[in-house]
Amino acid sequence: MPLSFSPEAQRKIAETRRQYPNAQAACLPVLHIAQDEFGYLSDEALELVAQTLNLPTAHVFGVATFYTMYHRKPVGRHVLMMCTNVSCMLRGAYDTLRCLEERLGIRAGQTTPDGEFTLVEEECLAACADAPAMVCGQRYFLHLTPDRVDEALQECRSLPPTHGRRRS
Ligand code: FES
Repeated sequence: MPLSFSPEAQRKIAETRRQYPNAQAACLPVLHIAQDEFGYLSDEALELVAQTLNLPTAHVFGVATFYTMYHRKPVGRHVLMMCTNVSCMLRGAYDTLRCLEERLGIRAGQTTPDGEFTLVEEECLAACADAPAMVCGQRYFLHLTPDRVDEALQECRSLPPTHGRRRS
């Protein structure tokens, strides 16, 4: 069956479209809606976004492949985005990232075998003053040093899925 948006997603897209001057400008938020809807942005999902916004498919693919916040492959229930950009790196982000990898038994870019976590090495999360920073869904973990990783992972497990509300 071809992919389609739920009535709720269609309502959000129509509302989003009204808030932006043209379809190109609405592309980013609509990609977020699609990612929340389907869990990740498959080729089919990107084609659906292109059709829905009446944009060239190549434009939508270009946007979706440029930003690391869009996932082109299935991800775990919780996506951990650990910043290793300059401010965070200077405050030990790589120690935290290595600790996350060790605790989860995966490397950055991978998903745990139980599908619970995907770990992403991320660029700046706009929380430089509180480095090192990690985000899981809407929840920011600030000053995340290795000694606080276990506590953070425990909290992440109780958060709603990062994307793919149809899966929850
Ligand atoms: S450099 Fe990590 S949040 Fe900005």
